Amino acid sequence: MRNPMFSFLALTALLSVSAASASNGKALATAHGIAHPAVIAHRGASYDAPESTTPAYLLARDQGADYLELDLQRSSDGVLVVVHDDVLSRTSDVAERFPERKDSPVSAFTLAELKSLDAGSWFNQAYPARARASFRKLPILTLDEVIDIAEGNPERHPGLYIETKVPKQFPGIEQDLKARLAARGWLDRPGRVVLQTFDRNSLALLHEAMPQVPKVLLLWVGTKTIEPASGQDFADSGETDKAAFYARQQPKDQAEFLRWLDQARQGGAVGTGPSAMRTHLGEQSYADLIQPWMNQASQARDLLVHAYTLDEPVDFDKAMKAGVDGIFTNRTGALLRFYQRPAEPEVVMLERLGY
Ligand code: G3P
Ligand code: CA
Repeated sequence: MRNPMFSFLALTALLSVSAASASNGKALATAHGIAHPAVIAHRGASYDAPESTTPAYLLARDQGADYLELDLQRSSDGVLVVVHDDVLSRTSDVAERFPERKDSPVSAFTLAELKSLDAGSWFNQAYPARARASFRKLPILTLDEVIDIAEGNPERHPGLYIETKVPKQFPGIEQDLKARLAARGWLDRPGRVVLQTFDRNSLALLHEAMPQVPKVLLLWVGTKTIEPASGQDFADSGETDKAAFYARQQPKDQAEFLRWLDQARQGGAVGTGPSAMRTHLGEQSYADLIQPWMNQASQARDLLVHAYTLDEPVDFDKAMKAGVDGIFTNRTGALLRFYQRPAEPEVVMLERLGY
């Protein structure tokens, strides 16, 4: 059950979240060169194609996403690569190719080893209704290859929304990232790149390396981050339904949430990336950190709010009414259509792209 103080705050905030906060958000976003409301293609168009692969990013780009979102890690021989999970077993055939290392971190593999994996076939098995023969044997991408995609259509110019993933495993990754972005000429245009992290230390390092680039602190309720009222993480809860567990999670009190906003500001962030709960729960439904009072408190601190990760119009609508400034989505086309922006049908576009 929600804390009564939260309910009171929520009610007062609902009455005051209005066109005023939306226009504040737009002005803030514009000042940073960031689209508003932002369409952030989460691991590319990852509902329709295997996450973080070429077709996922091509589709998101050509549909008109404002940003291609990616999770940055580093191979054992020092190349920046784009992989979400700490390990490769969910999204590749690592268990067949390197059985003795199937649970090893991404950082234990050379680029050649990573490139030898099939990062597409798992999608066909997991989502047969969206499977395509052309998704078989898709490779893991490097940062440079995603930049090539972002630059590859003269009519579409998505930005990059880059997360330093498990940054403690990758000392110096913030400087490596700066070097690649500078080499590719991506540090010259304000807002073309947004940097994101859950890790306050990485935020500080990103800010030190690239003070001019907008940064977002990702928010999550858990024992190592925003202290939960429940005092528990999912792993300790003994529960089996993750989404139901997360739906009950909230910060231990208002002050704890506000403390994180203040830390985001002090760390150089221009916004926060809070988790969001989905109406129909399921995968990627997390704690509801986009309640109107929360968004209002962020915007009162001149922090934009980009919520992760929503895929359905009912949730886009709730999030926008709650006052967010942009949404991470696996369904770029659905979010663009929600905003009444044109987006060609996914199947037509994938076929045109050769998939
Ligand atoms: O980066 C925003 C969102 O992607 C954070 O969650 O786990 O999907 O990287 P995750
Ligand atoms: Ca991410």
